[in-house]
Amino acid sequence: MSAPQEPTQEQVSELKNKYTLAAQDQVFTFWDSLSSEEKASLYQQLSLFDPTYINTITAKALAPPADDGDAKLEPLPGSARASILDSKPEDIDRWYQSGLELIAQNKVAVVLMAGGQGTRLGSSAPKGCFDIGLPSHKSLFQIQAERIRKVEELAAAKSGAGKVTVPWYVMTSGPTRGPTEKYFQENNYFGLQSENVVIFEQGVLPCITNDGKIILESKSKVAVAPDGNGGIYNALVESKVLDDMKKRGIEHIHAYCVDNCLVKVADPVFIGFSADKNVDIATKVVRKRNATESVGLILSKNGKPDVVEYSEIDPKVAAEEDPDQPGVLRFRAANIVNHYYSFRFLESIPEWAKSLPHHVARKKIPYADLESGENVKPAKPNGIKLEQFVFDVFPMLELSKFACMEVRREDEFSPLKNAAGTGEDDPDTSKRDITEQGKRWLEAAGATVAGEGGVEVSPLLSYGGEGLEKYSGQKIDAPSLLQ
Ligand code: UD1
Repeated sequence: MSAPQEPTQEQVSELKNKYTLAAQDQVFTFWDSLSSEEKASLYQQLSLFDPTYINTITAKALAPPADDGDAKLEPLPGSARASILDSKPEDIDRWYQSGLELIAQNKVAVVLMAGGQGTRLGSSAPKGCFDIGLPSHKSLFQIQAERIRKVEELAAAKSGAGKVTVPWYVMTSGPTRGPTEKYFQENNYFGLQSENVVIFEQGVLPCITNDGKIILESKSKVAVAPDGNGGIYNALVESKVLDDMKKRGIEHIHAYCVDNCLVKVADPVFIGFSADKNVDIATKVVRKRNATESVGLILSKNGKPDVVEYSEIDPKVAAEEDPDQPGVLRFRAANIVNHYYSFRFLESIPEWAKSLPHHVARKKIPYADLESGENVKPAKPNGIKLEQFVFDVFPMLELSKFACMEVRREDEFSPLKNAAGTGEDDPDTSKRDITEQGKRWLEAAGATVAGEGGVEVSPLLSYGGEGLEKYSGQKIDAPSLLQ
């Protein structure tokens, strides 16, 4: 890419005018002292934003509509829910078979949200590259890629359809795109064809002071942050991912988060279930561990499907007990960010993407002091990042177009959120949950597992516990790796 050109006098005054009218001209504080390259890059960055729009979304985010006190929150009605825990085995098998059939027809795609910056994990590399310490040392990206390969293989074998492709659209952000691309290239896309792995980028928004001003990170750079995982909708359109899906004839989409090592990528049961219900969005949930677990809750809000995020829920509501089951939380459907979308729904994004709200995340944002020009690293949160949430589209649907499927936590949800040693949602719990699952699969297939540490079963060997019959009657010493 060639370096940006220094703008003309006229271009600068036009842009300055825009920012002045929006009372955001502090971003030009150091303009006269900048070098030609710095001017060019600041100009380019500022041209990306409409300061009036930034003011509008900031004002709305800081003063969200005050209806929430009166909002009627209820668990989702039975008609919008199903549970793998108590569904009939023949229903689960029917969903599995029909989902696999749709995969075999090349109608299923996967979208991965991997634009977040593992700050809680204490790592600056994309989370997907993280090695959770499995015997194979596979990263989260590799595990997910291999599950895609396996599900393609299972679908091809079932239908005799020849080559099956589940395209994988990987959403990154400014900070994660470069390293993610490099990582995939260096690892030969983990055996997938590179044209079926589409890496795209979500947008960014400026960071804002508590009183609504755009923050300069340095004299010549605005502080920016990814626009939240809800940025996926704009990004799917702007990066032409939807066009690509259309060309490929995709009708069903599974979207999920990078940090869940147990994610069933392109899960045939979930695809079959959602297609069978003919819904536009479906979502998986697990039973919430306790009232304070950092998970969003899937519920009905004023009669519409919705999520109340853990950072925004009233602790009293979070702790309410189910009147029918003492000791059990009333709101317990924990969001694990595994979504199904119909393609027809995603095609409507341009009609509503602008109306998705922004949420406020209070953060420590390094900034340039406007008086001295010095770079400061604040010790306390000094400003806000504006984020959209992927689930904010749910209330746009009637309950009849939305479904929720409860799944087993031990089989489908073990997120990597925290640094090693935390004891909860950290690399050790991720590793434990994969190897314990492998052990359960082998025991169910008739093997005996001796010793501690579980068994890592490569996704290339088994997607969900199937195909392990050959281990029946065998003794396997843990910890071990089967590939
Ligand atoms: C998220 C959910 C929460 C759920 C929990 C389960 C949202 C807003 N919240 O919370 O309801 O119970 O996961 O683990 O979805 N990401 C981007 N771009 C961004 C920000 C994030 O792609 O700008 C991606 C991350 O890479 C990650 C996912 O979104 O894959 C979730 O982000 P994270 O910040 O970890 O979400 P949580 O706060 O844990």
